[in-house]
Amino acid sequence: MANQVYKPNPAMKPSPHLGSMKEYEKMYKRSIESPEEFWQDIAKQFHWETPPTGKFCSYNFDVTKGPISIKWMEGATTNICYNLLDRNVRKGMGDKIAFYWAGNDPEDYSRLTYKKLLIQVCKFANVLKEKGVTKGDRVAIYMPMILETVVAMLACARIGAVHSVVFAGFSSDSLAERLIDAKAKVLVTADGVWRGEKLLCLKEICDAAMDRSKKLGHEVESCILVKHLPRLSAFQSRDGDGKVNDAEKSPEKRKAYDYQVPWNEDRDCWWDDEMDDASSSCYPVWVSAEDPLFLLYTSGSTGKPKGVVHTTGGYLIYAATTFKYVFDYHPGDVYWCTADVGWITGHTYVVYGPLANGATSVLFEGLPFHPHNGRYWEIVEQYNVNQFYTAPTAIRALMKFGDGPVKKYKLDSLRVLGSVGEPINAEAWLWYYNVVGGGKCSIVDTFWQTETGGHVLTPLPGCTPMKPGSATFPFFGVLPVLLDEKGKEIEGPGEGYLVFRRPWPGIMRTINGNHQRFEATYFQKFPGFYTSGDGARRDEDGYLWITGRMDDMLNVSGHLLSTAEVEGALSEHPSVSEAAVVARPHPVKGECLHCFISTKDGVQFSPKLVDDLRKKVREKIGPFAAPEYIQHAPALPKTRSGKIVRRILKKVALNDRSLGDISTLADESIIENLFANLPGKDLKT
Ligand code: WT7
Repeated sequence: MANQVYKPNPAMKPSPHLGSMKEYEKMYKRSIESPEEFWQDIAKQFHWETPPTGKFCSYNFDVTKGPISIKWMEGATTNICYNLLDRNVRKGMGDKIAFYWAGNDPEDYSRLTYKKLLIQVCKFANVLKEKGVTKGDRVAIYMPMILETVVAMLACARIGAVHSVVFAGFSSDSLAERLIDAKAKVLVTADGVWRGEKLLCLKEICDAAMDRSKKLGHEVESCILVKHLPRLSAFQSRDGDGKVNDAEKSPEKRKAYDYQVPWNEDRDCWWDDEMDDASSSCYPVWVSAEDPLFLLYTSGSTGKPKGVVHTTGGYLIYAATTFKYVFDYHPGDVYWCTADVGWITGHTYVVYGPLANGATSVLFEGLPFHPHNGRYWEIVEQYNVNQFYTAPTAIRALMKFGDGPVKKYKLDSLRVLGSVGEPINAEAWLWYYNVVGGGKCSIVDTFWQTETGGHVLTPLPGCTPMKPGSATFPFFGVLPVLLDEKGKEIEGPGEGYLVFRRPWPGIMRTINGNHQRFEATYFQKFPGFYTSGDGARRDEDGYLWITGRMDDMLNVSGHLLSTAEVEGALSEHPSVSEAAVVARPHPVKGECLHCFISTKDGVQFSPKLVDDLRKKVREKIGPFAAPEYIQHAPALPKTRSGKIVRRILKKVALNDRSLGDISTLADESIIENLFANLPGKDLKT
């Protein structure tokens, strides 16, 4: 089944930008043979205040020849916010909807046109200026999926400030670490947000993070808060005389009523109060093509997150071009990406890519299961969504409810279905294709990373014949190569390290404050190449299949985590002497965490300790990282030099006794004990 080829629907209307593999191959060839001309032509659609002066692209990908550097359009100046908003308004699209906003509850919705978005952005840019923010300053954004989040990001871009959006599911410790690393001057947040039926008190988390940051030597100067909670009145049921009466019903609602937003007079202010007085005109600050646009933190194998730096010019043209071709966006389409703005997918394919194309998008605050399991499909029907982009973990979770909730809605408008974040298994792919897409949509399984800025391997709708689970072929300008362990190139069918031979415009430029780590992480292993960290297989037809991470990273519900990061959190518990974490397959999350814990002398391993450890990970990283399995390991399998052998722990986690060669272990006798302590019985997946 999985190797069957699914041809794109020949009746796709409007006809796709690229109608055949021949057209793709022609364009791809040009992008590789004459990359500068290829991207120069694309750059012409956008506004450059001054044109590039030097080479259109210059780079060094070889650590043995000098520092790694990547530059596109050097000498050019522009403003990405101007290109996304002013340029589209000037083209006559001022009254076009930029975003339909759908809240956590179906009763909560609004919309924003390009013109109105521009006004809001200008006003907030002036608010930021008022707070002393100037070009190059860092602004942290810890927000729900609301229109103000987009406004805040673009306001930064308008004045050349660098935004650092932190996913509002991260804990206060994680937020603090990011505030410090970015030296954030201002933090933009909201009082709170409902996630399904759960209330998140964002300001409390921010306060804890700002306190911690201050203690560690970095003080955030201002905190601007959107008043978001009172707007959610629809969530509260009212009795005959309109009196809110559900406060007593659930402890979560009780919490909302009792929630007093903590306040620091010298530092905090309400978004609306500031906006009231702000002027709605703000001239854009022209920045260099290579000036930073944003930082976005991603997990690193050392446990310390990396502040990935993306710059302005190259990112703009890459986000715009991938969006147009990968989603086959046509004027009049309604596009919806469910990703949170706190991840790279939210940056490139909720904000920058769609707006650069003058697109109309849905911005959704809620969850797929609230208030019912058909919420996604309800929204697709309501807004006539043409392109829908989500993660395999969501697809697998929704599949569990069967076809019923999907079939209840009219989904004829759908043309393109996107998948991102992890490999999509054939079963989920086929369900997406047949049940959601009615067998007539193109599925784009987009492989990319926070670091790549945009899609790098992906099918193109109406063009690429699809194989379930394959990310197929490279996007324009991208040259993937497979290498073996020794760095020898694998040609034709085979499996190896997925690396890239040259930069495309949207690739990251450095790690915030640590160029050396950038070089060491991505360029050291195979000089001359960007190493993705993933493995891939090329089949007989040249299709690329991602096989998963080759390093100590794991992917829980599409979120990358490093084993070191989780081990670090667990080891902070006073009862733990040592912790080792491995990934283990999970039917919905893709992967989940299995932790092996050695306790200190005299400490009992108990259910309470397991609870505490889970709590610890939630506190240090965030709820999404909470381990599924935590087991006692009186001793861990180690080599004679003391290195933990995770390969063996992975097998133990699966209750799989085919351990292979264990002669390198310092003490083989400890293994039996690990099997004996496995939590649960029928573990074999
Ligand atoms: C890692 C990057 C790119 C936005 C979301 C994640 C995995 C991503 C796919 C895919 C197989 C995928 C890789 C990659 N991944 N997309 N279509 N097929 N694996 O961004 O947090 O930077 O994670 O996600 O392992 O390296 P990220």
